[in-house]
Amino acid sequence: MSPEGFGEPQGGAPTNYDVRRVRALYPALADGSAWLDGAAGTQVPQAVVDAIAGAYRHGIGNVGGAFPASRRSAELVAECRRAVADLVGGDPDGVVLGPNMTTLTYRLAAALAAGWGAGDEVVVSRLDHDANVRPWLQAAARTGANVRWAEVDLATGELPAEQYDALLSPRTRLVAVTAASNVLGTRPEVAAICAKAHAVGALTYVDGVHAAAHGPVDAGALGADFFATSAYKWSGPHVGAVVADPALLDTLHPDKLASSPDRVPERFEQGTSPFADLAGVVAAVEHLASLDAAAAGTRRQRLLGSMAAAETHELELFGVLLDGLEAMGHVTTYGKAARRTATAYFTVAGMTPPAVAERLAARKVNVWNGHNYAWELTGALGIRDAGSAVRAGLVHYNDRTDVDRLLDGVAGLAP
Ligand SMILES: Cc1ncc(COP(=O)(O)O)c(C=O)c1O
Repeated sequence: MSPEGFGEPQGGAPTNYDVRRVRALYPALADGSAWLDGAAGTQVPQAVVDAIAGAYRHGIGNVGGAFPASRRSAELVAECRRAVADLVGGDPDGVVLGPNMTTLTYRLAAALAAGWGAGDEVVVSRLDHDANVRPWLQAAARTGANVRWAEVDLATGELPAEQYDALLSPRTRLVAVTAASNVLGTRPEVAAICAKAHAVGALTYVDGVHAAAHGPVDAGALGADFFATSAYKWSGPHVGAVVADPALLDTLHPDKLASSPDRVPERFEQGTSPFADLAGVVAAVEHLASLDAAAAGTRRQRLLGSMAAAETHELELFGVLLDGLEAMGHVTTYGKAARRTATAYFTVAGMTPPAVAERLAARKVNVWNGHNYAWELTGALGIRDAGSAVRAGLVHYNDRTDVDRLLDGVAGLAP
């Protein structure tokens, strides 16, 4: 594990990564598409489908009852917390589960802002997905706290960590920063940024939604007081999670029903949980742990090994993808951060991003177009009003054929 808490590119170190074996586990991949839309949500392996179906097939009950189906649901919740904790290196008792990262972030922002007042400060970044920006801006506005912005170097897509020295003060209450950009792939120096935040007594809220899909994560090593993730980005169902120290969660008091548990982490979870989907999350984590067939040890150790192998695989393919795009005179790529995920963002001369996506879709090459909620970043780049750009991202199940099909498709769009 790198000191940054997010795996360093392995530089082509040999792994036992067998992408053909991995692909065979995903029924949806058999439809013949090049699935390059993983950054917006991945496909799920059969094991996840089976786990969700199995939970329903066995009979499902709400928690708190005296009968077996109810006890199974309680066990599913506990298993899900253990699985997410293993994935990010957290404490199962600090895993808050919810519908998605955005909803959970609004919930945490409201709870944290209850302790803010006029003159306090919050630091957000121009690199982040809007789900790690707007909830903090709106919470700050309600409390009279001031917002300070970390800016992106638009030529490179980097979020320089040094700027935080000038942004932080003893009044800083929270620093919200992404572990990886969902469009440029930039992986900022989160550990350095969090260390600076802690030095002035601020809390850190790290958006790991994009990052967790692309390499091993150690939320503690990152210095993330809160680490947010979403299972649908890493082969699971639509379930979000925020992981924190249970002792920290215990200091917060979100709005809740009188009758719902006041324990941590349940205090932060509203209404009835999607129990069958939680079984799917557990299966997704098990799946990630087994991506590298040779990974051994505890589930956490297998996750670290498998995600490092998957990252190496992604970055090798990404080198081909990026070199191919950059060699095309009619293509402009955005972002060249030193540390990044395998996520390309580009425009094609003379064509709008939706038109590019349509032409590629006609060849069964699935990509995204638009701002992808990187609202501030696409605005700063000056491309948002013109439809932003096209995003093609690699995940652990993509192979060379997917890359070649994208490159062929884009080459065919030359004027
Ligand atoms: C980097 C990043 N952060 C946050 C989100 C929001 O996640 P969710 O859909 O779970 O609310 C996304 C979703 O695309 C994302 O890519």
